[in-house]
Amino acid sequence: MKLIPGRQIAHKILKSLQAISNKLPATLAVILVGNDPASHLYVSKKERISRQIGLRFQKYLLPANVKQAKVINLIKKLNQDKKITGMIVQLPLAKHLNTDKIISAIDPKKDADGLHPRHLKMLKQGQIPPVLPATTAAILEALKYTKTNFKNKSVAIIGKGKIAGLPTYYYLKNKVRQIAIYDSKTINLASKTRRADILIVAIGKAKFITQKYIKKDAIIIDVGINKIKHATVGDVDFAKIEHQAGYVTPVPGGIGPITVIMLLKNVITLYKNNPPSSSVLIMTFACGAFFH
Ligand code: GUN
Repeated sequence: MKLIPGRQIAHKILKSLQAISNKLPATLAVILVGNDPASHLYVSKKERISRQIGLRFQKYLLPANVKQAKVINLIKKLNQDKKITGMIVQLPLAKHLNTDKIISAIDPKKDADGLHPRHLKMLKQGQIPPVLPATTAAILEALKYTKTNFKNKSVAIIGKGKIAGLPTYYYLKNKVRQIAIYDSKTINLASKTRRADILIVAIGKAKFITQKYIKKDAIIIDVGINKIKHATVGDVDFAKIEHQAGYVTPVPGGIGPITVIMLLKNVITLYKNNPPSSSVLIMTFACGAFFH
């Protein structure tokens, strides 16, 4: 079995972004609600890598019991703010908040996560949105590393979440020989996933996937990040699949670091699609022409 080295892949992309992003006046705004330690950790990683590639980063911390209207008001303010070129709301949100309503409030031009319903709908309809959801983009980078031509492969996805499973399913739907999406409650799940050349798992259940779920020499993409005591483990029981899988993404150090860098790549793409100063430039140009 071979490892897909997520940190190495992320570092290579980071270097390529550094070359183009330095001193770009692109700013990512991150809204973080509550005190969940994992969410705080992910956001601090996003902040560190942003600064490393020369992007500006603004964090907005809101208390766990914040009212939905307050979150939406902040998003509206950031939509209007010309300095902010990309925005995300760190997920998951507390139960009293409506994630769909909150994400829908983001100006699609600033949707750095690619999770705005308009963009998910485009993916579902086989269209290409301005940016891909960062996790889907990370999965594609991991697959690219294996140099597998996935056109003639069968794919199984376990997990129907809007961050990873669903958008990846929509994206790959017409690009592979066969694809199916399941969840952890699917009946006879192992007999189904055992047919897949590529298995993508995003269910958030520590070490759920063992040898019986896996076709010999399949590519296993583990999107799960779970805590067992102080250790971070994936949805795949690494020790149990070692002799069955062809490739696997480790946890930690697999899809996670690639996802962070793909988010920041999205921020640069959005900036290039909608440079904040374009209207100012046009005005300057128009005034210049007038005064000549
Ligand atoms: N939480 C886990 N993954 C993600 C992600 O890709 N984006 C956001 N906003 N929150 C997440």
